[in-house]
Amino acid sequence: MQHVPADMALIFPPSFVWGVATSAFQIEGAAVEDGKGSSIWDTFCRQPGAIADDSDGDIACDHYHRWQEDLDLIASLGVNAYRFSVSWPRVRPTGEGAWNEKGLDFYERLVDGLQARGIKPYLTLNHWDLPEQLQSKGGWANRDTAQRFVEYALRMDARLGDRVQAITTHNEPWVISVLGHKRGVFAPGLKDRAVAMQVSHHLLLSHGLALHALREQGCKSELGIVLNLAPMHPATDSADDQSKAVLEDGLLLRWYMDPLFKGHYPVDVLEHLGADAPRVQSGDLEIISTPMDFLGINYYSRSVVSSVGTWDVHTSGREVTDMGWEVYPEGLTELLLRIHNDYPVPPMYVTENGGAFKDHLVDGGVNDPLRKDYIARHIDAVSAAIRQGVCMAGYMVWSLLDNFEWASGYEKRFGIVHVDYATQKRTLKDSALWYRSFLQHQAALRQQRPVTLPRTAHSEWNTVAIGDSA
Ligand code: FCB
Repeated sequence: MQHVPADMALIFPPSFVWGVATSAFQIEGAAVEDGKGSSIWDTFCRQPGAIADDSDGDIACDHYHRWQEDLDLIASLGVNAYRFSVSWPRVRPTGEGAWNEKGLDFYERLVDGLQARGIKPYLTLNHWDLPEQLQSKGGWANRDTAQRFVEYALRMDARLGDRVQAITTHNEPWVISVLGHKRGVFAPGLKDRAVAMQVSHHLLLSHGLALHALREQGCKSELGIVLNLAPMHPATDSADDQSKAVLEDGLLLRWYMDPLFKGHYPVDVLEHLGADAPRVQSGDLEIISTPMDFLGINYYSRSVVSSVGTWDVHTSGREVTDMGWEVYPEGLTELLLRIHNDYPVPPMYVTENGGAFKDHLVDGGVNDPLRKDYIARHIDAVSAAIRQGVCMAGYMVWSLLDNFEWASGYEKRFGIVHVDYATQKRTLKDSALWYRSFLQHQAALRQQRPVTLPRTAHSEWNTVAIGDSA
């Protein structure tokens, strides 16, 4: 089914940023080239059974060598932003010793290449590939890692900050903490709840410390963090399901949003954690709640929780992606409105949104109507939030390319561009062609008529947008 959102230009501010996203470990390859150090994901991939198809990131999409072709692809889509991450061990192999000029040069070429093509660079510092050497000293469970992170942030700003639109400190701290340290299904593969919670605290602390240090250095980029969030729905109306949903919401959303925007951890979650709650030093929460310039949200689906077992995703009758995730676009509107109402947030970006589906390359093309439909419906959901007064700054599709999908290896394809891993040939899928024509349509509509955003009681954003288009 083809779904073309109607009159989308009417409700997106002229300054709205449209992008595509990737991360270093998932696309770069060149795992030991030009002095790159090892990351915890390089190590994790070597653990038997850790990755579904026994693969690793050694070659991935070979982006380290094909970056120019990939930047041309991005430009051909008509987006004006590219969200990528820096591999920390590529620029500082041990995380604490000498810097690797060849690694820094790579990101310099990338950023310059983006600028030359008129695309704004959105740089993420930590998209999970911590230098292995730091892990051997405790990794994120060690408070010192926060200081190493600050040094890394300052170095990247000194080198690239004048050309980078935005710097994200961490991508999805919940995933690092819970999947990496409690469930052990992601690097570094630990299973210890107390460690996981300490890790989450050190991630947040290092975020706040980095913001302070970057601003002191005169950083000109927008600064923020990216969280993976979802509405948490009880499976039934039973009191048990409802209280479970409140707790799970506390663990996923309030555990991060409360300290970042209210300066404290949620009391109900602290009580639930008991002795596993993190050690917090005085002053930490003031640092963590340092104001940000933007908040990034990665959204894929809602969560449904049951107090008696696992909720079967098929019971809702909705489509399910190849990851087994329910397609639930209205959850994005619900989530954005809830955040807007509950927290004093800066402008928000959807920094990741997209779907894994089974693709088939036929006659040089990939017909992927489910992905196209997924993206279109979520863009609609963002516009619905804007119409209700939420300050949204941009939307980025996950992902530009099919790539290494962490523990799922190369079996799951999220790209709007197909990658043939044997030849590294890139092919625009129909979803990419749709995104391109949607963006052209947007641009054309903006030329034709002024943007008429509704005036809402609490939205300066809309006033700015109306002013911009006048
Ligand atoms: C997010 C990650 C991203 C990608 C998508 C599918 O959790 O940030 O790297 O794996 O999921």
